[in-house]
Amino acid sequence: MLRGLGRAPFGPRTSQGQGAGPSAADSPTAPEGTSHGSASPPGASATTPPPAPVPAPAPRSIEPVKEADPAQMQFETLKRHIHMRLVDRLDMNRIAEIDPKTLRNEIKGVVEYLCDTENPLLNRNERQRLVLEILDETLGFGPLELLLKDDKIGDIMINGPKRIYVEKEGRIQKSEVIFRDNEHLLQIIDRIVSRVGRRVDETSPMVDARLPDGSRFNAIIPPLALDGPVVTIRMFGSRPLSKDDLLRFRAFTPEMLALMEGAMKARLNIIISGGTGSGKTTLLNTLSSFIQADHRVITIEDAAELQLQQDHVVRLETRPANIEGRGAVTATDLVKNALRMRPDRIIIGECRGAETLDMIQAMNTGHEGSMTTVHANTPRDALSRLETMISMAGLELPIRALRSQFASAIDLIIQASRLQGGPRKVTSISEVIGMEGDTIIMQEIFSFRQIGINETGRAFGEFIATGIRPTFMDRLESAGCHLSPELFRQRVMLKD
Ligand SMILES: Nc1ncnc2c1ncn2[C@@H]1O[C@H](COP(=O)(O)OP(=O)(O)OP(=O)(O)O)[C@@H](O)[C@H]1O
Ligand SMILES: [Mg+2]
Repeated sequence: MLRGLGRAPFGPRTSQGQGAGPSAADSPTAPEGTSHGSASPPGASATTPPPAPVPAPAPRSIEPVKEADPAQMQFETLKRHIHMRLVDRLDMNRIAEIDPKTLRNEIKGVVEYLCDTENPLLNRNERQRLVLEILDETLGFGPLELLLKDDKIGDIMINGPKRIYVEKEGRIQKSEVIFRDNEHLLQIIDRIVSRVGRRVDETSPMVDARLPDGSRFNAIIPPLALDGPVVTIRMFGSRPLSKDDLLRFRAFTPEMLALMEGAMKARLNIIISGGTGSGKTTLLNTLSSFIQADHRVITIEDAAELQLQQDHVVRLETRPANIEGRGAVTATDLVKNALRMRPDRIIIGECRGAETLDMIQAMNTGHEGSMTTVHANTPRDALSRLETMISMAGLELPIRALRSQFASAIDLIIQASRLQGGPRKVTSISEVIGMEGDTIIMQEIFSFRQIGINETGRAFGEFIATGIRPTFMDRLESAGCHLSPELFRQRVMLKD
């Protein structure tokens, strides 16, 4: 008989949820207690039939894989069949008690056995692939696993079950990976969001979550998304990009890094501005490595994705309203609370609304060294975005008063851009120096000037020192950061 079948997790079959198979396979319940927090505790009543354990495919909704060849279809059918036999044998009560590695090995043994008995004609590669895919279906994120394991992929964009795009090394391309159907994709989405205590269904069809490795996850499903569930994943990898990585990618020059490092150490207030996917969060993570180890940092995000290197970090996350529309906790609430938590610095992942004003006020009231990011295309644009966010939130403040608050709160604006063909660069570092009449005055210290596009479609240009020395040099000096005047001499620093 099957090796391991007599032991956990493959206990004797109960009288329900088996036989014909579909009843067990119908349930979208996730394993490891992930289903909306309602999993039965380990060791729940032995007489209750175990809940169907795995989000197995629902036979009634199975459609043929349209875009695959016949061999692929055969493979999928076999996979489904073996998966169902496996689901049939799992004892959910025991799954929770077993450590994940042992569980994986146990399941692997059974799947291998089933492969050999159900279709002994599989060749070695096919058998190996089948086993891996079934393990991913059972314990992981199904077809997504393949993409999640590829560390060259930055973004995954799933537009319905059959159209999946990835951004690989700066370029967007269509992936071979597909889901069986909408239902299959929904099951995987459900498994991901329920892990972080969120849900997605017709009443809350949009959800933000994160993957176990911290990558950002967003899903929007029908009826809002017209052509099936849409998922967008921003992969951060297990290791955030370091300053050396970014230097190697020529995202900025050593001179620019020296200034940014000084600004961090001297506790300047910094706004990182940039378009979608321009590298703002990455830059924030990287710069955070310069924060002194004894500083207490509080981060506030909608879906936690910052990976700060310090020990003394408190991470806070906003919460959407529940199904009755109650219980929402906004970024504004969290900033207010953070101020009572003795922060040295506050970092808001991204300013989107009313929290902007609280952030600016915190910067002005002794929490120097605070940072945030904002969606904008130029440093000047960033300031007007902040202004707009405050006025859209209904906070009536005379424009001049608001601007002078900005001028005294913000020291530096770092502009990130994603250029044509994929490269991401810091395209401007500008200092905010004060007000003249109703206008905030800024001066650019370093910039990147795009010159053209090369034969592979990639933008190229040069990093420039404008020749202007920042006015905050004395602050850098007193923080022990000595930058030579030569650093700021007007010149082209690097061509790329
Ligand atoms: N200089 C760089 N070179 C190469 N890849 C980069 C660079 N900076 C960031 N990336 C990668 O680009 C992707 C987008 O980066 P990031 O999430 O920091 O952008 P963002 O501006 O915060 O995006 P969003 O607006 O969606 O929040 C990530 O996969 C990141 O690893
Ligand atoms: Mg970001």
